[in-house]
Amino acid sequence: MESHIQIFDTTLRDGEQTPGVNFSFDERLKIAKQLETWGVDILEAGFPASSTGSFKSVQAISNTLTQTAVCGLARCKKSDIDAVYEATKDAVKPVIHVFIATSPIHLTHKLKLTQEQVLESIKEHVTYAKQYFDVVQFSPEDATRTESDFLIKCVQMAVDSGATIINIPDTVGYSYPNEYGQIFKTLFEHIKTNQDIIYSAHCHDDLGMAVANSLAAIENGATRIEGTVNGIGERAGNTALEELSLALYVRKDHYGNETRLNLSETKNTSDIISRYAGIRVPRNKAIVGQNAFSHESGIHQDGVLKNPETYEIMTPQLVGIRKNDLPLGKLSGKHAFAEKLKSLGYDIEPQNQVDLFKQFKAIADKKKSVTDRDIHALIQGSEHEQNAIYQVETLQLQFVSNGLQSAVVVIKDKHGKLYQDSSIGTGSIVAIYNAVDRIFKHKSELIEYRIDSVTEGTDAQAEVHVSLNIEGHPVNGIGIDHDVLYASCKAYVEAHAKYANEIQNKERNHHAF
Ligand code: KIV
Ligand code: ZN
Repeated sequence: MESHIQIFDTTLRDGEQTPGVNFSFDERLKIAKQLETWGVDILEAGFPASSTGSFKSVQAISNTLTQTAVCGLARCKKSDIDAVYEATKDAVKPVIHVFIATSPIHLTHKLKLTQEQVLESIKEHVTYAKQYFDVVQFSPEDATRTESDFLIKCVQMAVDSGATIINIPDTVGYSYPNEYGQIFKTLFEHIKTNQDIIYSAHCHDDLGMAVANSLAAIENGATRIEGTVNGIGERAGNTALEELSLALYVRKDHYGNETRLNLSETKNTSDIISRYAGIRVPRNKAIVGQNAFSHESGIHQDGVLKNPETYEIMTPQLVGIRKNDLPLGKLSGKHAFAEKLKSLGYDIEPQNQVDLFKQFKAIADKKKSVTDRDIHALIQGSEHEQNAIYQVETLQLQFVSNGLQSAVVVIKDKHGKLYQDSSIGTGSIVAIYNAVDRIFKHKSELIEYRIDSVTEGTDAQAEVHVSLNIEGHPVNGIGIDHDVLYASCKAYVEAHAKYANEIQNKERNHHAF
């Protein structure tokens, strides 16, 4: 049996069920690679039967990852199981996650099945899945509101039919640590099998207890935890894996076991998810929030200067937060820039470095010191631009005080073809967005608009996030620039470009699927 606490990441499945979050195909692939770098044991890449997009991403992730097990979700339905098989068959370690609800409220109102029918369905579908997969995970959905006797019967049936991983979802975040831990204890006492069974916890955060409940599961024998990066997910989200893993690391004296995550990749992983999900991490969020390692009061600052351990139970370096940010400036040359990229963990091809250096110089001309956060933003911005199928070529604005503003927008597609249009609006941003809407000819609604500054100071670059609803589909876009209006235009164009890309892929897949 494994001796560490296994991490099952469901950022790409349960995490993507966060209202307003919709990762693009490229983002899913990048997230999966980062999760592999972080060192998760297994990742749930999607729910292949739910859409062609999910199927294709699970397939691409299965073909790409070289170490991590890839899992797909399936209802108790043969067509769902077939879809997971097709999507994951090339993964280094394919896994299927079969679930069915077991609580009285779900049986009566959602499934309209009797308990006997549920047991029969578990037997039929876990057995069917076992024909194709060495590793079958079974989840009794809403387990924490299921009568104990029936839960035991469901789990026993799943184990007898070939499941070797039993995941206990607190689907609605209803349980509390003692109660949730007790469920694992009861299962250990009652489930009879010669197989090694891994018990896994899957908690939602409706009452803010997902991490505490997951830790209680570990105290009662669970050796696998499901969760998401930054705790994103359906409603109030899932267990925040960065919090759970650091709790295990810092309090190993109590839990006696840890994960195998590369903890120094924690902050990077959190940043990527925050950026692609368009959800800012609260400043006071444990482990990855901006304040997590800041000390405000004089007494605390004095203590930390004398010995950091007076007020820090872990170091920022442990989770990959770099404090010794030596900024570059406009006199920094290619060599210093290359060294900085290396020290920040980027391995960038020489030709791309030349382009990045030009962009760095442009920033350094406008900004006194270029910090690590500027460099990260520069690289992420340039990645966005490289992958974009449309880019802003020119933005021209006319501002009239107390009047209507006007904008001319020119965008360029991957093949260099230019598209342009103009519009007016009550403000400059409205004028820009109206012009972009006219170019793309899609009906869109701006749901959220947010400006963050990449660093402090009046010369900081602006990072604009937009969430749009385009013809019923949620899409996010990010734009980074010194000029807020230009950054706003880039973000809006990126969101439209993503939608256009999804539509093109859908049309292509429609013929191939
Ligand atoms: O919360 C839940 O019950 C789920 C299941 C699909 C495992 O996400
Ligand atoms: Zn869930």
